[in-house]
Amino acid sequence: MSFPKNFLWGGATAANQYEGGWQEGGRGIAVHDLMTDGTKDEPRRIYCQNDQGDEVTIQQGECIPFGYRGILKEGYYYPSHQATDFYHHYKEDIALMSEMGFKTYRLSISWTRIFPNGDDEEPNEEGLRFYDQVINELRKYNIEPLVTILHFDMPLHLATKYGGWKDRRLIDFYLRFARTLFERWKDKVTYWITVNEINVLGGYWTLGLASNHRKTGTHSNQGETPLEDAGIKLQSIHYMLVASALANKMARKINPNFMLGTMCALSGIYPATCHPDDVFGAYEFRRKALLYSDVTMRGYYPNYAQAIFDEYNFHLEMEPEDEKILRENTSDYLAFSYYRTTAFDRNSPNTTTTGGQQASPNPYLKKTPWGWPIDPEGLRFVLNELYDRYQKPLFIVENGMGNIDVVEEDGSIHDDYRIAYLRDHIKEMKKAVEIDHVNLLGYTTWGCIDIVSAGTGEMKKRYGFVYVDLDDKGNGSLKRMKKDSFYWYKKVIESNGEILE
Ligand code: BG6
Repeated sequence: MSFPKNFLWGGATAANQYEGGWQEGGRGIAVHDLMTDGTKDEPRRIYCQNDQGDEVTIQQGECIPFGYRGILKEGYYYPSHQATDFYHHYKEDIALMSEMGFKTYRLSISWTRIFPNGDDEEPNEEGLRFYDQVINELRKYNIEPLVTILHFDMPLHLATKYGGWKDRRLIDFYLRFARTLFERWKDKVTYWITVNEINVLGGYWTLGLASNHRKTGTHSNQGETPLEDAGIKLQSIHYMLVASALANKMARKINPNFMLGTMCALSGIYPATCHPDDVFGAYEFRRKALLYSDVTMRGYYPNYAQAIFDEYNFHLEMEPEDEKILRENTSDYLAFSYYRTTAFDRNSPNTTTTGGQQASPNPYLKKTPWGWPIDPEGLRFVLNELYDRYQKPLFIVENGMGNIDVVEEDGSIHDDYRIAYLRDHIKEMKKAVEIDHVNLLGYTTWGCIDIVSAGTGEMKKRYGFVYVDLDDKGNGSLKRMKKDSFYWYKKVIESNGEILE
């Protein structure tokens, strides 16, 4: 046994990090357009202002203080505006993907390109036409589009006017967006992901949330402490879960052959020692990441959800029909990102409600230059963990190593570290398929053509097989250059994962 013949090899990107063209084709402003660049040590920021002209800055994951709005500030660099300009390079880039033999390409749709404000009645035809061209180009090369409807994206207008996903009306705006895409590409796209990393509880950036814990007066339904912020996030994610289930329901009516996926950040977590508190601590920590796939794959909030809600002193508000919606519209497959593992140490638990990525490091593992532990065997572990739990097909839709690449004088780029990382992960993935009989639909590496880092806003943290000439401040020709890994991945795909050296 080896990888199935129709195994979907490919690569993945997201509009906010790749597309650019931020003011072209009638596109509206998204919250991520207000995010500055950053570094490993200097977080990306959003500058905010109130009506009196007072300014505050917020960082990724934080909520905007109530009464403030995000602004663009002179003299700062905003990486998403141009990103690596897929908007103008899609033909060239898709040709490169085809040259590598991609069977699939995972892209996301910019919400504001289709609905510039998010609550518009009618979609922006020019925006749809852009993606028509992209999808037709993919089809031309027999590359299966894998479409993420929402990837770290929030129309600024929805954040400002409604406070983002805190407002239940967002469900309808999202569904209008989703319906437009499902209907438009019902015969051209089979694989969908409703929301990227739904278990990563962003603040203003992804959920569009305002809060009051920075103290700017009081307002009902706004958090006044970080704990209340966590509650607002949990409630917002509930609306997103309902939206995602309703999108599944709607999609199945439009085309019963659609494959509808949930996507979660599910890099792994181990106990730091065999001390029982580390073991149970790691288990509890992991369940914070699994909560959302439990809901979307099984169709209900699991028993332990209440323990998490109690920790945040949170009471979940449900409409009477919500339970039925969740139960009847589970996803067909679970897509996930896997980059690393971390360890849960009872002495420094550093708990988080997200994908288990912020715990203590593991001394047995080497790290990337950005400090992410490298753990190929952890991928086999996670594939088994998830397949045991859900018994539904899995799809690895993000995996890869962010690293600094050097262009030699002759234009070559020797990224042997990337080849080693991917090769070792593919070997483990192969064991999970061949030995453990995990049902895996495909594998798309992250940032297949270089894109801006979501976490740091840097360009130098590169994941791609194709180098894009652009630096951290947006200087460069945007020229595309093949790295050594380009030729290597081509062979991997050609041999359906048999040739890995
Ligand atoms: C995932 C996101 O969490 O990690 C991507 O879905 C992101 O959007 C990726 O780019 C890698 O993170 P970073 O910070 O290295 O870009």
